[in-house]
Amino acid sequence: MLDIVYYSDSFLRKKAQAVQSFDENLHTLLDEMYVLMIERNGVGLAAPQVRHSLRALVINLPDEEGEQHKENLLEVLNPEIIEHSGKILFNEGCLSVPDYYDDIERSEKVTVSYHDRFGNAHTLDAEGYLAVALQHEIDHLNGILFVDRLPLLKRKRFEKAFKKQQRCSA
Ligand code: CO
Repeated sequence: MLDIVYYSDSFLRKKAQAVQSFDENLHTLLDEMYVLMIERNGVGLAAPQVRHSLRALVINLPDEEGEQHKENLLEVLNPEIIEHSGKILFNEGCLSVPDYYDDIERSEKVTVSYHDRFGNAHTLDAEGYLAVALQHEIDHLNGILFVDRLPLLKRKRFEKAFKKQQRCSA
């Protein structure tokens, strides 16, 4: 069974490899990532967060009632942001960085090319929450965490709080 890799594990810093086999192993991984994401109340999960160096991510945004439905599940393999525009400030969190939330500046709109689980090519225009989620998860494939995008002072404050928390639980 999969488990979450937490900050500051160096695995989260690796650049993930392109998906080349759209086979049963990949489908099993995606299925298990979905189950784990829902179990942990996440809206997105990238393969490096479960110790798989693959350019694969899942996103399942809640509807207006805050409910997640599997028919809205987005499986995104080998994504590339081919266009981006605008700016948006969004309060983000991450399953790999528990109990920390902060406002991060992202592009408001992105166009992403990607493959689905069968290797078919797609292009997606996204804005707002979905655009933010895509950028957050694609960052994971490149070894980048949302806290890396904090302004320097906030980044230092995060680091200090993290170290203090580690001392307390040690
Ligand atoms: Co994350």
